[in-house]
Amino acid sequence: MSILVTGGTGYIGSHTVVVLLEAGYDVIIADNLYNSKLDVLDKIETITGIRPMFYNVDVSKRSEIEPLFKMHSIEAILHFAGYKAVGESVALPLMYYRNNLLGTIELADCAVKYNVSKFIFSSSATVYGDNIVPLHEDLPLLPTTNPYGETKAISERILTDVAKANSDFNVTLLRYFNPIGAHASGLIGEIPVGTPNNLMPYLTQVAKGKRTHLSVFGDNYPTVDGTGVRDYIHVVDLAIGHMAALKGMHDGVNVYNLGTGKGSSVLELIQTFERVNSIKIPYQIVDRRQGDVAASYADVSKAYNDLNWKTEKSLEDMCRDSWFFEKNLKD
Ligand code: NAD
Ligand code: UFG
Repeated sequence: MSILVTGGTGYIGSHTVVVLLEAGYDVIIADNLYNSKLDVLDKIETITGIRPMFYNVDVSKRSEIEPLFKMHSIEAILHFAGYKAVGESVALPLMYYRNNLLGTIELADCAVKYNVSKFIFSSSATVYGDNIVPLHEDLPLLPTTNPYGETKAISERILTDVAKANSDFNVTLLRYFNPIGAHASGLIGEIPVGTPNNLMPYLTQVAKGKRTHLSVFGDNYPTVDGTGVRDYIHVVDLAIGHMAALKGMHDGVNVYNLGTGKGSSVLELIQTFERVNSIKIPYQIVDRRQGDVAASYADVSKAYNDLNWKTEKSLEDMCRDSWFFEKNLKD
């Protein structure tokens, strides 16, 4: 039996593939390389000694994804594949709805047809909208501020309805907080295309001298120092969280926050990065970014109680590993 990992050459998917291979699972990756490169397979092989099976397919196209279910005996699907740039989703909503929703629909349909009983979906803390922190899984979801966020909320509802209609189809919705960091080998990590939107990839490019300074989006939020607070989680902890979710899969639909439970402000992150890497990060305070919430951090008790999972790595580890990866990247 194999685990189908869609988006398995991407940032979070590749770290999860490493964790699964190291634990002895057979892994099949389905990725159309829209936002990743084939050489990630070499890196995975260098780290684990195993080369996962790979298919260059678009998961939103039935004709491309269904053959995999005919060829392989699939035990579970970990569905990472999707577009994720918030700003781009505002400019190109149909591209986001088409890719992210059709991917979820076609995979769920194949899962039901080929008796795959376990489906794990990459959701996001963004589905909570501007809500009460710490964010708990039982909170009523609020509208998100962009089509990307809507694709996550709608995918959650689609998968929930499919599970209600098919008692053998079980779904785990994982709401990620802010994944940063990279594998300790420095071989795999996040490679943003163009100007990074997210804080850590921008910060590491400033550290490398590729960009002059970091813009801090607002210092007048009701937070510890006025800057935005987020629950940064090391991508390797997040990857291990997927294995815990797979092992601890319950019947029906289950939702888990994957975060540390601790919020850090933008300035705290910059200071930690500077301290552990001995690099000064020039920054300027600018206006708030539209759509940002003041604070977002998880109540992590459910994942701990149900899945026996919690994070191990610190903000220092995240800053060190992010920099180690960026430093070794050939531009
Ligand atoms: P990523 O872009 O690095 O990886 C996604 C992978 O999916 C890429 O390799 C891309 O080529 C592939 N892909 C996209 N559309 C595809 C399609 N139709 N068919 C086949 N492959 C396709 O992104 P990531 O950061 O690893 O994120 C993985 C998942 O987690 C995404 O669904 C994302 O929305 C979600 N997520 C990410 C974050 C984050 O901050 N990185 C936070 C919350 C949720
Ligand atoms: N920030 C800056 N300067 C930057 C980039 C970000 O000050 O150049 C600030 C933001 O205002 C925010 C914090 O840093 O306070 C984190 O911003 P990110 O863009 O790194 O992350 P977000 O919390 O905005 O969003 C991320 C992903 C979303 C996902 C969400 C929750 O981009 O896809 O986490 O998981 F939905």
